Amino acid sequence: MELQLWRAVLEPYAMAVDELIVKMNHIKNEFEYVDQYSPIESVNGRVKRISSILEKAQRKNISLDDIEEKLDDIAGVRIICRFVEDIGRVAEIIRKRSDMKVIQEKDYITKSKDSGYRSYHMIVEYTVQTLKGPKNLKVEIQIRTLAMNFWATVEHSLQYKYKGNMPEHVKDKLLRSAEAIVTLDNEMTVVRKEIMDAQIYYQLKKELVTDILSNIENLYKVANKREVMKIQDEFLAIYETDDLERMSHFCKELDIVAESYRAQRLH
Ligand code: GTP
Ligand code: MG
Repeated sequence: MELQLWRAVLEPYAMAVDELIVKMNHIKNEFEYVDQYSPIESVNGRVKRISSILEKAQRKNISLDDIEEKLDDIAGVRIICRFVEDIGRVAEIIRKRSDMKVIQEKDYITKSKDSGYRSYHMIVEYTVQTLKGPKNLKVEIQIRTLAMNFWATVEHSLQYKYKGNMPEHVKDKLLRSAEAIVTLDNEMTVVRKEIMDAQIYYQLKKELVTDILSNIENLYKVANKREVMKIQDEFLAIYETDDLERMSHFCKELDIVAESYRAQRLH
């Protein structure tokens, strides 16, 4: 095939990669806008280079006519997470979407590859709109932690350097560092729980403060100003202690005060 024709074949794959990067980044935004921890840390993608496509087709004995059918990774999107648990959450988000259909999943995390490689792979069918109409194509989505990604990147460069003849001692080192990555990811799991706890605490505090401030604001309209100032000072003192239980108690009391003013006004 001529180079120019290859470019035309690959263009829809470029569109798929671009669109999926935008969509995955917006999932991240959605979490962040509601102050929730996002299981997606970052997203990137690429279209396989023509030279790599040709090399792989030759290696796997795939005729050039069957490339789109038989190569799953012409379009590739990589989603990076901070913690192992996030990978499952991202996979579930992808399974539930109606704009892509999962046709294969490979779990190299429960069972890593012989090289030590760990990652969660999904092949999805995705539709892009071209001038000739809708086109269904396959995209390989790799989901992995920052640590897994670090290992895979280093290992990939070494594979490239040794071109399939990696010396045993290098392989051994890589296997041992893969084990260290597993340990690191496990240690990080503990930190993740702390992040989640901190987030719940922060959310609760924000809701309490919003409730209290809105009650104080309303009291200014109906109650004695000096009394409201006193309530406000009281709140600031409690706020400084950062004691959620006291804040919650104060919030309930304030609700009662506000309610009694409302009742008075009705009379
Ligand atoms: P491919 O012929 O590579 O497509 O193998 P496959 O069809 O069996 O798919 P697999 O899920 O094993 O691998 C798909 C992709 O995962 C590869 O193109 C790489 O990006 C990545 N990958 C798989 N194994 C390794 C590995 O040992 N090291 C690194 N660095 N990446 C890997
Ligand atoms: Mg593959």
